Amino acid sequence: MDKEDTTEFILAKKCLIMGELTPEMDEGLKMALDRESYGRTIYLAFARSAAEDGLNNLSKLFRAAAESETVHAMNLLDALGEIGDTYSNIKRLLTEEDCDIDTTYPTLAKEALKEGRSEASMAFNWILGVEKEHKELFRQALPYLEKEDDIEEERYFLCENCGYISQGVAPPKSCPICGAPASEFKEVE
Ligand SMILES: [Fe+2]
Ligand SMILES: [Fe+2]
Repeated sequence: MDKEDTTEFILAKKCLIMGELTPEMDEGLKMALDRESYGRTIYLAFARSAAEDGLNNLSKLFRAAAESETVHAMNLLDALGEIGDTYSNIKRLLTEEDCDIDTTYPTLAKEALKEGRSEASMAFNWILGVEKEHKELFRQALPYLEKEDDIEEERYFLCENCGYISQGVAPPKSCPICGAPASEFKEVE
């Protein structure tokens, strides 16, 4: 095989192209943000797996690496200029087109089912249900911010199975999105 066809060479070329992205550096920053965000999540998954294997010290190292990836992702978000003041952040959340809720996740859930990927379909449906709830929680915050107030103090319980956030004095008996019992909920500190 010609040297030019090796995987290493293809990767090197890709890196070179990335390096030449200067006029459209936002694209490079977004690609890096995807990688660092994925890195954080996979390190957290590895940490959970290591803890399940009884390797608590290694689990801690994975958690440290996840935090490190978060720092990288935050720096990239700053460089992209994506973060504004709280009012504009909330406004943006509420006015951005609901492509994910209206189109992306319903379509993916349906397609996954067609392909017999029931676990994938369930994951998409859970995201869809939870994202709608997120939007509602932030919508409720808007009138407070318009008066330059903070929202009322609440207790939040997170379903560790699907990500649903419940507010109140105790978690619900079962999760309205995935049906998990109250024991699957963890209070957010
Ligand atoms: Fe990183
Ligand atoms: Fe749930």
